[in-house]
Amino acid sequence: MQLLYRSVARDEEFAESDLDILLTALKNNGPKGISGFLWRARGQFFQALHGPKEAVAPLMERIARDERHSGVEILLRESRDPQSPFADWSMGYDYIAEDSLGLGMDPNGARPVIDEAKARQIWEAMVEQARSQDEWGTHFPYARKRQESLDAWKERLEMVRQV
Ligand SMILES: Cc1cc2nc3c(=O)[nH]c(=O)nc-3n(C[C@H](O)[C@H](O)[C@H](O)COP(=O)(O)O)c2cc1C
Repeated sequence: MQLLYRSVARDEEFAESDLDILLTALKNNGPKGISGFLWRARGQFFQALHGPKEAVAPLMERIARDERHSGVEILLRESRDPQSPFADWSMGYDYIAEDSLGLGMDPNGARPVIDEAKARQIWEAMVEQARSQDEWGTHFPYARKRQESLDAWKERLEMVRQV
């Protein structure tokens, strides 16, 4: 099953809660066969999840109840290739310039309409980002560095969390 949603973040980007979310995802997802990518934008999250339905559906229910965000809106939910396009990314993470993708919130907090075609474009952009982050890395501090192993990334985030 694969699923894409967006939500309105409670905390600012660079907040510790993002680190907690990421560490939880990295701990829980792998053993359940779940992979995906989390985009942080100004005031918003976009998350792609891929994995067995028995694992993804209950996770989505938990996520939807999480107080660290609100306004959860499912943009895609479908049965697809059991092979994950996110390969070994039990969860990817990066900051995106939402305005360049036409995804920004207006000053009143209103979000643009996202139709199915746009949702697929977002999904594909996340898949591409997982690939390019592996090859080129990223400047965003919590994100996985170039060719950093999952374990090394997790250790680095745990150290940041303790400081
Ligand atoms: C935007 C967002 C994305 C999240 N993504 C995941 C995820 O991919 N995997 C996960 O296990 N928890 C994720 N969570 C956290 C869950 O809502 C929940 O807190 C967590 O699964 C509870 O895990 P625990 O019982 O092991 O503490 C996310 C939360 C938010 C707000």
